[in-house]
Amino acid sequence: MSTDYTNLIGREDINDLEAILSVSNSDVNDVVHAVTSTTDAMFTWDYEQSREPLVKLYEKAKTSQWNASTDLDWSTEVDIEKVVLANMAQNNPNGAMFFGGVDLAGTQFAKWGDKEWMQLAIEGNNWTLSQFMHGEQGALICTARIVETVPWIDAKYYAATQVMDEARHVEVFARYLREKLGGEYPINAHLRMLLDDIISDSRWDMTYLGMQIMVEGLALAAFGFMHQMTTEPLLKKLLRYVMSDEARHVAFGVLSLKEYYQELTLAEIRERQEFTFEAAVRMRDRFLQQEVWDRMGVDVKEALQLVLLDESRPMFQSMLFSKIVPNCKKLGLLDAGDGWLRQRFTELGVIQFEDWADTGEEYAMLDEVSKDREALAG
Ligand SMILES: [Fe+2]
Ligand SMILES: [Fe+2]
Repeated sequence: MSTDYTNLIGREDINDLEAILSVSNSDVNDVVHAVTSTTDAMFTWDYEQSREPLVKLYEKAKTSQWNASTDLDWSTEVDIEKVVLANMAQNNPNGAMFFGGVDLAGTQFAKWGDKEWMQLAIEGNNWTLSQFMHGEQGALICTARIVETVPWIDAKYYAATQVMDEARHVEVFARYLREKLGGEYPINAHLRMLLDDIISDSRWDMTYLGMQIMVEGLALAAFGFMHQMTTEPLLKKLLRYVMSDEARHVAFGVLSLKEYYQELTLAEIRERQEFTFEAAVRMRDRFLQQEVWDRMGVDVKEALQLVLLDESRPMFQSMLFSKIVPNCKKLGLLDAGDGWLRQRFTELGVIQFEDWADTGEEYAMLDEVSKDREALAG
């Protein structure tokens, strides 16, 4: 018997394409978007820095700051068509970048030529970087929130450094999109729904769980993937630097929640498990890139039915959870109670990552900014 997800995510079948496509943003031309929330701002009078791992992380964050204006070479020329061809030559020498193994005969794509496939690759790249940028703004807002709501001084100090990191990340993606790609996509409807859920929740640990563990855990894997695939030097370095910050951010989530979750009841932990699962589904829905198909002027539903048949898709999609699952395990969320979250992650096909490296300690190794500075200093 398959699980009925209606109460959790508003649809019975997790792969119901109609339901996924029914979520869209109607206000894409608005310049601002307000999310209401009533959260307590917490002062603490305990200024003792008693949480050693957070103190260490804070010290690291202070010395690993970088400057987007001077540490990246913005004079790099980006000819996006050349980049797409070079990426393809490196990663897919046999062609078949889209719809791997799917028979396109009789579909709207059968008559596509090089021009259309090139345009699709360019749009896909632009869409992905645009979603990174919007997600970064979500992180900026969430960490500013954490400074206010977390009751521990060590965590307030650390979160303040992350606010600066996230401002820099929004800045670099926005500048790259504007100067090198000539424009951006609006936020994906599923990503926005997830950010709204995270920001409107009044419990301080939910901001952490949604942003630091889920959104940033996925971002770390996605940035790593793009960093590996791209041949464009400016983007490669930009991603390397952003990732070294992100590794600290995920560590911050893991270290803080690990302590807090030990105090919660099983019923409270179950709410966290459900929140985690909902976030995972929203992120999965967003991978379908519905806005790209729309802009390409094709029948979105037919395109997505073909996308779902792509043989390489399940592997690629599950890889994006390779940081999230071990971190959830480290927090005790996988097996708490009756192992509810373990069952859900098994159904999503991502449980195999449970024993991969968690991100509590990895950040020191991933500090590319320090490595570059040491190399320069000789
Ligand atoms: Fe970030
Ligand atoms: Fe981050």
